[in-house]
Amino acid sequence: MKKIDVILGLQWGDEGKGKVVDVLTPAYEVVARFQGGPNAGHTLEFNGEKYVLRSIPSGIFQGGKTNIIGNGVVLDAILFREEAEALAASGHDLTAQLCISKKAHLILPTHRILDAAYEAAKGSAKIGTTGKGIGPTYTDKVSRNGMRVGDLLSPDFKSIYAKAKARHEAILAGLNYAYDIAELESQWFEAVEYLKRFRIIDSEYAVNSLLDDDKSVLAEGAQGTLLDVDFGSYPFVTSSNTVCAGVCTGLGVAPNRIGEVYGICKAYCTRVGSGPFPTELFDETGDALCRLGHEFGAVTGRKRRCGWLDLVALKYSIMINGVTQLILMKADVMNDFDTIRVATAYEIGGRRTTQFPYETAAEITPVYTEFEGWKCDLRNCRTYEEFPAAFKRYIEFIERETGVPVTIVSVGPDRSETIVRN
Ligand code: GDP
Ligand code: IMO
Ligand code: MG
Repeated sequence: MKKIDVILGLQWGDEGKGKVVDVLTPAYEVVARFQGGPNAGHTLEFNGEKYVLRSIPSGIFQGGKTNIIGNGVVLDAILFREEAEALAASGHDLTAQLCISKKAHLILPTHRILDAAYEAAKGSAKIGTTGKGIGPTYTDKVSRNGMRVGDLLSPDFKSIYAKAKARHEAILAGLNYAYDIAELESQWFEAVEYLKRFRIIDSEYAVNSLLDDDKSVLAEGAQGTLLDVDFGSYPFVTSSNTVCAGVCTGLGVAPNRIGEVYGICKAYCTRVGSGPFPTELFDETGDALCRLGHEFGAVTGRKRRCGWLDLVALKYSIMINGVTQLILMKADVMNDFDTIRVATAYEIGGRRTTQFPYETAAEITPVYTEFEGWKCDLRNCRTYEEFPAAFKRYIEFIERETGVPVTIVSVGPDRSETIVRN
């Protein structure tokens, strides 16, 4: 009996999950998404090509692997169709490779409108969502009003839809929000027909019997731990459980079937959208991280906020997820930096703490440890041994502080720019 391995983000998303899932996929037979939806933008680069995946797991480029969209995911049929058709046009027809859980919830056209309406109603306190209808869709799931992929196969599909739409329209009228969904709605009805050409399955049975048959499965997280609806910087979070426990609820696997937990982080931090970010930089260094790291949202194109690596937050994420191996991304972005800082504690109201605070409005001053930069192009390195001593010191400091080994180091966006430590 195999256990399911997990790769998930330890920061505020965009750590490089798509790239690493693609790199790890050859060792697995199945890749499965367990939460989130098209708010994700997972970038993969290989053979001079670049792809951004939103709902489709990042295992689809490694030939013949099964890819599953699990029950914990929320699916927008229109965006899914766009994504699948673009891949088919580039020679990657997924119909045979991709399965979708009957229990995944559908993002309806009115969910997207509700997302915009709720954001508008919050004014300056807005979350800065991706606008993809994620919050309203999970809200309907939890309030037992949602529509699931399995409903597409029901003869009552149209009436289930009509009821949901009527409920949403009443809310939108209450919010006094003007909208027109005629075009979106007709696209949606065509797109749900398109969805039906994929295998719509009982994914919890599929995943468990694969594991029983000793098949290896990799669960791919979306977003990051600090955006988790329970443990993130609430309310500035997404609406799903992005943490390891989300694999159990989002795929139907028991906790004792979790194997390796790969926690992925950048060598610095980024965040897109509103909310606290203790190590955020508002100076030239922050601009340099954004410029050199091309830190613009893969889905929305928004500029990502940038700052130093935050070990208080990272240790918190490691604790919540039971991370067994760390994957360190994008240190190459800091190749030319003279000095590099890492936060090891926070000062809040004159008190020093190493705990991630409950209070998101707290005035936090990070306490930093400073490192000399490595001043060399890490992108030329292909083994751990080739890394400059200053970079090894940086990695070893992270390992010592967190107690978790850094087993993979990524030094560029391409699949080949990945160093697996033996
Ligand atoms: P994800 O959402 O976690 O999959 O991450 P994104 O794809 O949103 O953002 C990561 C970005 O960093 C993408 O543009 C990747 O191509 C890029 N990237 C990934 N790893 C590296 C790396 O090691 N170095 C550099 N310079 N870029 C990287
Ligand atoms: P990947 O998988 C970074 C952020 C949004 C916003 C908050 C809530 O590519 O790492 P939502 O649309 O989910 O209701 O937005 O969460 N957010 C992400 N930030 N990467 C992501 O995904 C994100 N998905 C959502 O910017 O602050
Ligand atoms: Mg992303």
